[in-house]
Amino acid sequence: MDIRILGSEKEIGAAAGRLYVDFINANPTCVLGFATGASPVPTYDYIAQSCRQGKVSLKGVSTFNLDEYCDLPRDHKNSYFTFMCENLFSRTDIDMANVDFLDGNADPDEESARYAAAIKAKGGIDIQLLGIGRNGHIAFNEPGDKFTDEAWRVALTQSTIDANSIYFDDIPMPRYAITMGIGSIMRSKKIIMIATGASKAEAVKNMIKGPVTPACPASILQQHSDVTVFLDPAAAALL
Ligand code: PGA
Repeated sequence: MDIRILGSEKEIGAAAGRLYVDFINANPTCVLGFATGASPVPTYDYIAQSCRQGKVSLKGVSTFNLDEYCDLPRDHKNSYFTFMCENLFSRTDIDMANVDFLDGNADPDEESARYAAAIKAKGGIDIQLLGIGRNGHIAFNEPGDKFTDEAWRVALTQSTIDANSIYFDDIPMPRYAITMGIGSIMRSKKIIMIATGASKAEAVKNMIKGPVTPACPASILQQHSDVTVFLDPAAAALL
């Protein structure tokens, strides 16, 4: 793993954002896997700003996202689809026909097969962006006793519910989500992971220094040949 420790979330956003801008300019019809949560927001800000300044165009880019809540309308303000529209898509010139998203209200098995086929039809994901949960999850692949493969419906753990409930002020947070599996994530050609803050330090240590185990799903990234990890000093404190 290529581990880069930078001083602040803003610096990380600029460094990761530059990497995307350069990659998209070199590969205008690339396939990008995006993530939600607080960690990627400064990166999305950088990409959106670059687009506004005419330094990059997302017109030819195709995207897939890691996960979506189940039993939540797609246009609810807390859906991950809405998050991506607000934080990135609506701020760029992306063609929404090229945006694919897991449907949290579809039959999970059918949706998993559809998503796998759609990713394959595009030639696979060139760069997958990831955050990490406090419990070591990637996407919504919670700690368990085996690594998953394709997308699946997951019961969220209390750690994840505690971390994400703060965003739900009108309805209780959904207890289930549909998530890309570990296998789908590992088939991405390149992976960029962003982790900031002290609450991620233990998970980051387990991901990089611990054994490869489904008890810390992110530890599987040790077996991927092209992973860049951006950390701030607080997240890197236990390395
Ligand atoms: P966060 O979430 O970026 O909001 O901390 C990351 C994750 O849970 O994967």
